[in-house]
Amino acid sequence: MGDVAVGSALRVELDGVAVCVVQDSAGAIHALGDTCTHGEISLAEGFVEDDAIECWAHGSQFELTTGKPKNLPAYEPVPVFPVTIDGDDVLVDVQNPLT
Ligand code: FES
Repeated sequence: MGDVAVGSALRVELDGVAVCVVQDSAGAIHALGDTCTHGEISLAEGFVEDDAIECWAHGSQFELTTGKPKNLPAYEPVPVFPVTIDGDDVLVDVQNPLT
């Protein structure tokens, strides 16, 4: 995926759903709901850690594979969506979240 560098995130709108697409440090692609569950903040504007993305506003980190917050103040998870890699394309199924 050319638009998302390793260790970075990109916000996209798919079928009206705000999605945060992340490429982790190992090169794996993840797709999560982009809105922090603590406030109306785009997670794609945050910081990618090894296995999580951190909301810049108050520091909650969400696990890339489960969407669960690792620390307060957020305590509700964000959805995680299935990702399929098709050549250079990343296909995200926003209709069938994994979590
Ligand atoms: S808005 Fe994201 S942690 Fe507060």
